Formats: sequence, structure tokens, C-alpha cells
Amino acid sequence: MEHDYPFLRACRRRPVDRVPVWLMRQAGRYMPEYRALREKHSILELCGTPELAAEVTLQPINRFDLDAAIIFADILLPLEGLGVGFHFAAGEGPVIEKPVRTPEDADAVRPFDPTVGLGHVLEAIKIVRRELEGRVPLIGFAGAPFTLASYMIEGGSSKNYLLMKSFMYQHPEAWDRLMRVIREVTRDYLAAQIEAGAQAIQLFDSWVGCLSPEDYREFVLPHSAWVLEGLAGYDVPRIHFGTNTATLLEAMKQAGGEVIGVDWRLPIDRAREIIGPDFAVQGNLDPVTLMAPRELLVERVKRVLERADAKNGYIFNLGHGVLPPTPMENVDTVIETVHGYGRR
Ligand code: CP3
Repeated sequence: MEHDYPFLRACRRRPVDRVPVWLMRQAGRYMPEYRALREKHSILELCGTPELAAEVTLQPINRFDLDAAIIFADILLPLEGLGVGFHFAAGEGPVIEKPVRTPEDADAVRPFDPTVGLGHVLEAIKIVRRELEGRVPLIGFAGAPFTLASYMIEGGSSKNYLLMKSFMYQHPEAWDRLMRVIREVTRDYLAAQIEAGAQAIQLFDSWVGCLSPEDYREFVLPHSAWVLEGLAGYDVPRIHFGTNTATLLEAMKQAGGEVIGVDWRLPIDRAREIIGPDFAVQGNLDPVTLMAPRELLVERVKRVLERADAKNGYIFNLGHGVLPPTPMENVDTVIETVHGYGRR
């Protein structure tokens, strides 16, 4: 039940007996058991095979004392169903085969039924829930409409989002139509994950920090708010995450969710001041801190905990995902330090 899980309690700003911790990208290349599976299967095969996706989801849970699992998938998976083909190129990250560059391209992007097109993710969620046997809650997730649109238009990762912003400014109506298609699929996909057993959801707006607050409010907020509002009827906490969002936190909380995710660029006490008492907060350790010597790492983890008012509606996490060269003993150090906080 919810009242037994520190993670779900913290999302609801209820008292916790220990500060919960999980790590974005907690399943991945820093783990030898993940690398072993990747020798045999591509990332898309892992995501596309429910038994394998379930196995990878559980790898960090079996090794570390984490307070939540996150389903192994990728934010880009819905692109295929939307008619935008992509693959992962070794060493380069995602490559969109025919990026969206004109209003006509945007209007060719069509909604689909994620219970069909992404049924394998839903199946993986069901397997994980069975195999977890209530050990920790399971988080489902999706990319936010803006971050998905940025991949569709840029064609991959980007430095300054020139093409994406140009499209937004030059074709505001086509942008709006595109965002409406993506948001519908995103809402339906997250709802289906909850129906399949996800006990919390996270909306990843990873790259939204490239926008000014004004552009965020005009071009993005209504669509993210629509997704989050569409899930309000479920009794499941919603985490709203982005990076580089120091100037956007005010607007992001208006878009909704119970929990706001923050990166490391803003001290967490300052972030909490901006976000206010009506939201829980998740984050804020710089992922590269896990490359530091143990004493420095412990000091930095404690600093975040102290500044965060950590026993009060706070979930420890990194400000972004675990990086591939991260030593596993440092993951243990982070988790032990968090769990030791406020205990004698
Ligand atoms: O957190 C977890 O453990 C769940 C798994 C997860 C993956 N991707 C698996 C993955 C999650 C939550 C994601 C989200 C995701 N994917 C985001 C949002 C979070 C963030 O980091 O901002 C984004 C932007 C993507 C897009 C993406 N997927 C990129 C840019 C890349 C290539 C870069 C890289 O890290 O290699 C991926 C591939 C990917 N997705 C990997 C993993 C474990 C690495 C691929 C590999 O094993 O070779």
C-alpha cells in the first residue's frame, strides 16, 4: 500500500521514516549486467521485448537499496507509432530518419493507440509488478510533448535548437497542431501505463530549459498541462522534470504535477523557495559528483539533503541521469548516505 512506501509518501508530502532515493537512468551502461545484455541485444530490442525490459528494470533494484523502480524504456519509443522512424547510432545517440521540417511534415504526424503500438511496454510493466512482489513501487514515464517535438524536428540531439525554435516561430499554427497530436498520445500512453500497474509517472521535459519563460508559457505550458491534467483522475503521483529550468520552475509548477524535478544548476533550497510548499521536489545532485572521491561525494550528498529540508516532501535523485563511467560503489555511497540522513 502507498502508506508503506517512502517514495510514494514523499511524493504526497507525507511524513517519511527515511528519505527515499532513486536515480534517473538507474538501469544502464554503468552496470556490468546491463552491458552483458547489450552485447546480445540492441537498446531497441531490450525495450521491445517485455521479458528483457523487465529484467533490465530489476537489475538496479536487485543490486542497490533503491526506493523505486522505473520501467526500462525510452522517451523516443512513441515516435515510431507517430510515423517518425528513428534508430540509435553507436556513439551518436538517436537519429531521426526523416525529421519534421515543414508544416506538411508536421501534419503527417498522426496519433496512434499506445495500448496497441506500445503494448510491449505495458506488458513489461505487468511483468515487473509481478516480479517486484511489492518490494518497491514502479514508476512509468514518457517524454513531454516539447522534448519529443525537439527530437522530431532537430533529427537528434541538438546544441542550440535552431531548427526547433525556427519552426515554432515561423509556423506557430503547425507547431500547435503537432503538439496536440503528441500530447494526446502522451496522455493516453501514461494513462495506459498506470492502468498496467505504474504507481507514479514522470514526464521528462529534458530539454525545455533552452526556452525563455515567455516562450515556455506560450508554446509549451498548455500542452504539458493538458497531459498532466488528463491524468489527474488517477490516484498516482505525477513528477514533472526538466533540466536547465531555474527560470522556468514557476511556470512548470503551474503546468501541474505533485512533484517538480530539478537539476543541479540551482541550489535546492532556492528551488524549493520558488516552487513553494504545495509541491514535493526531486533531484538535485550533479551526476558528475559520482566521479568524485568518497569524502567529497558524501559531503555533497549531505549538503543537498540539508538544503532540501529532506524529510519534508523530498525525493533524492540526481539532477539528470547516471553517466556510463559512474563507479557502482559510489551509487551505494549515495544511497547509504541518503538513508542514513536524520538517523542515529
Ligand atoms: O532511467 C531508467 O533507468 C529507465 C530507462 C531510460 C532510458 N531512457 C534508457 C536508455 C529512461 C528514463 C530514458 C529517458 C530518455 N531517453 C530521456 C529523458 C531523460 C534524459 O536523460 O534526459 C532522453 C532525452 C532519451 C533519449 C535518448 N535515449 C538518448 C539521447 C540516448 C542516447 C544517449 C545515451 O545515453 O546513450 C538514449 C539511449 C538510451 N536510453 C540508453 C538507455 C539506457 C543508452 C543506450 C545504450 O544502452 O546504448
